[in-house]
Amino acid sequence: MTSPQQPWWSGGVLYQAYPRSFADSNDDGIGDLAGLRGRLEYLDWLGVDGIWLNPTFPSPNRDWGYDVSDYFGVQPDLGTLEDLDALIAAAGELGIRILLDLVPAHTSDQHEWFVESRSSRESPRRRWYIWSDEADEQESAFGGGAWAYDERTRQYYHHLFLPEQPDLNWMLPDVRDVFDEILRFWFDRGVAGLRIDVVHELVKDPPSRPNRPEVHNVLRRWRSLADGYEPERLLVGETWVMDVDELASFYGRNDELQLAFNFPFMFAGLDATALAGVVERTDAALPDGALPVWALSNHDVVRFPTRMCDEDDAKVRSALLALLTLRGTSFLYYGDELGMRQVAISPDRVRDVHARDGARTPMPWSDAEWRDPWLPLGGKVATVASQRGDPGSVLSFCRDVIALRRARVDLVSGGYTPLDSPTGVWTWRRGGATGIALNLTDSEAAMPLEGEVLLSTKGRNDPSRLEPWEGVVVALT
Ligand code: NOJ
Ligand code: CA
Repeated sequence: MTSPQQPWWSGGVLYQAYPRSFADSNDDGIGDLAGLRGRLEYLDWLGVDGIWLNPTFPSPNRDWGYDVSDYFGVQPDLGTLEDLDALIAAAGELGIRILLDLVPAHTSDQHEWFVESRSSRESPRRRWYIWSDEADEQESAFGGGAWAYDERTRQYYHHLFLPEQPDLNWMLPDVRDVFDEILRFWFDRGVAGLRIDVVHELVKDPPSRPNRPEVHNVLRRWRSLADGYEPERLLVGETWVMDVDELASFYGRNDELQLAFNFPFMFAGLDATALAGVVERTDAALPDGALPVWALSNHDVVRFPTRMCDEDDAKVRSALLALLTLRGTSFLYYGDELGMRQVAISPDRVRDVHARDGARTPMPWSDAEWRDPWLPLGGKVATVASQRGDPGSVLSFCRDVIALRRARVDLVSGGYTPLDSPTGVWTWRRGGATGIALNLTDSEAAMPLEGEVLLSTKGRNDPSRLEPWEGVVVALT
């Protein structure tokens, strides 16, 4: 689908699957890798190019996989290394790539590196983590101070997240070296790339402050490692910054991340001026030849149909149409394609330290799919089974948009050109001959584009006007 000089993710649609909640092969209530393999047919039917799996490594799960205790293995709840190999192979046969989630900024406190580090001040691994005689006032992301006192060695260690997630000391060459090994281990197994956790705050300069120049040095080092593979491996960063120039800095001179997640877009709201503004500023900020990457939901934020769309499917369709027709690479979070809502979690079902369970509930395959799942099913959205058979469903619409995107070269590789539009309508051109218009208002609007309507969020075919919240793709004449 892409021209030969373009990487496979250019113009592609990737899918974020939260493995514990995607599909369960053995009825223990926990999604697993074999379950995911059993659902590749669905993802192929939907039309995705790759899958990002949330962390698959052994972990005590204080932060659901983001506290890694072994970077070379697979969390037993999810399966084995063989299951991961089998998933990569089976997905590969369908032309679907697998990305893992690398968590380099911190480990679990159960990781043997930390166990050694905290064993004594003289430990050869002492300096792998950030130790200090004093705690400053820095806060951790989950509340409370960012320093934990270690009784035995009478020093504090730094943790930007939970105390069970001690931060690695990325100023140390040994830490950089071992991560090169980790990257190679997975790339050699056929992993197509990595989503990289909290990459913007990876390197702290002891005692504890982010050291951005050093982050860029590490990224350049990883990029040259990734570029040494054929095809080149993809590095997509969790770059949680709200300024697009800062965001763009993580692409380097096209020698750092190939993709940096765009949080300003995720949080712009379903508003024509705000969305158009972020997209234009991003386009202007990225280095020449770099690709933007868009997502509306992930496992850390409230699902977009609830957060942005008042759980109104007309709005959900327009948001999906925007996500999937912008230039670059788009990520769907599992369930986005169904219009899946945030699920209310009763206090007795809470599993996460930071109230994110409602965005991580089981994928509703059919009414009978899950037995006693680890998180409750929401029940507020129609299942895959019922939506797949319904040409008018959100799922069928989402699949139609992806199919149109794949079939139309403008939508794969055409540039983004903003066009004039009435207030509240967001209109742009892709390439030479494809227009998109979204009426993000409660009133009818005049159609700002001339040509044949190829697809409408409302299933209409009216070249003269847009209904409230209607979005269209038009072959421009
Ligand atoms: C970002 C991850 O997406 C989130 O789920 C996690 O809690 C933190 N990083 C800490 O690793
Ligand atoms: Ca299972």
